[in-house]
Amino acid sequence: MSTEKLLSRVMEAEPVGSRSKVTVVGVGMVGMASAVSVLLKDLCDELALVDVMEDKLRGEAMDLQHGALFLKTARIVADKDYSVTANSKVVVVTAGARQQEGESRLNLVQRNVNIFKFIIPNIAKYSPHCILLVVSNPVDILTYVAWKLSGFPRHRVIGSGTNLDSARFRHLMGEKFQLHPSSCHGWIIGEHGDSSGMPPPSKNRTPPDQPAPLRLPGGEVSLRFTWG
Ligand SMILES: NC(=O)c1ccc[n+]([C@@H]2O[C@H](COP(=O)([O-])OP(=O)(O)OC[C@H]3O[C@@H](n4cnc5c(N)ncnc54)[C@H](O)[C@@H]3O)[C@@H](O)[C@H]2O)c1
Repeated sequence: MSTEKLLSRVMEAEPVGSRSKVTVVGVGMVGMASAVSVLLKDLCDELALVDVMEDKLRGEAMDLQHGALFLKTARIVADKDYSVTANSKVVVVTAGARQQEGESRLNLVQRNVNIFKFIIPNIAKYSPHCILLVVSNPVDILTYVAWKLSGFPRHRVIGSGTNLDSARFRHLMGEKFQLHPSSCHGWIIGEHGDSSGMPPPSKNRTPPDQPAPLRLPGGEVSLRFTWG
C-alpha cells in the first residue's frame, strides 16, 4: 500500500470551535499581566487580545505566540477589530487611561466611560453570553457602566473590586507575622479607591471560633488565622 493511501483521511474533521475562549481588552501593564496569568494557569483554549494601539498589540501578541511552545493554549489571536473576540466565555476589560501621579481613580471616570461606550457594546455583540470582568478604574463605577451598556444580567458583570487591596493587606499581615499571605485572612471592604478600608472592629467579644479583633499600626481589625 502506498504511503499516500496510508496517510489518507478516514473521515472529515468536524469543526470544533473554542470551548473556553478568554479575551483581554487592553494590552497595557494590567492586560498583559492578566493574559500571562490566564495562559500559565491553562485557563483557556483560545486567548484573544484587543487594543487600539496596533503596533503594541501586534508585538505583545507575537511575544505570547512565540512562547506557545511552553503553553497549552492552542490559539492566541489579536486584532483591534472585535470580531476576533467572538464567542468568548470570559472577557477581561483592562483598557483605558490610567492615573497620573497624584490623580485620584475617580478623576478617570469620564475618559474611561467614553472608552467603555465603544468597548462594551462590541463585546456584547460578539460574545453575548460571556462573563465580563472589569478591572479598569474607577473599577466600581465602570463595572456599573459596563452592566448598563452590556444589558447583561448582573451575575455576568463582575468588577475586581477590593481584591487587590485585600491581597496587599494579606501580604502586609504576612510580613508582620512572618507567615505566608494565604495563612492570613482579612478583607479590605468598600470602593476600590481612596475610601476603601478595613472592617470596623466588633464591639462585642468574639467567640473563640470567630475572627478575633487585633490591633495593628493601621487600627484595630478583625482577623482569623489558619496555620499551615
Ligand atoms: N482594579 C484594579 O485593582 C486595578 C489595578 C491596577 C490598574 N487598574 C486599572 O487598569 C487600567 C489599565 O492599567 P494599565 O496600568 O494596564 O494601563 P496602561 O496604560 O499600561 O494600559 C492601558 C491600555 O488600554 C489601551 N486602550 C486605551 N483605550 C482603548 C480602547 N478604546 N480600546 C482598547 N484598548 C484601549 C491602551 O492602548 C493601553 O494599551 C487602568 O484604568 C488602571 O487604573 C485597576
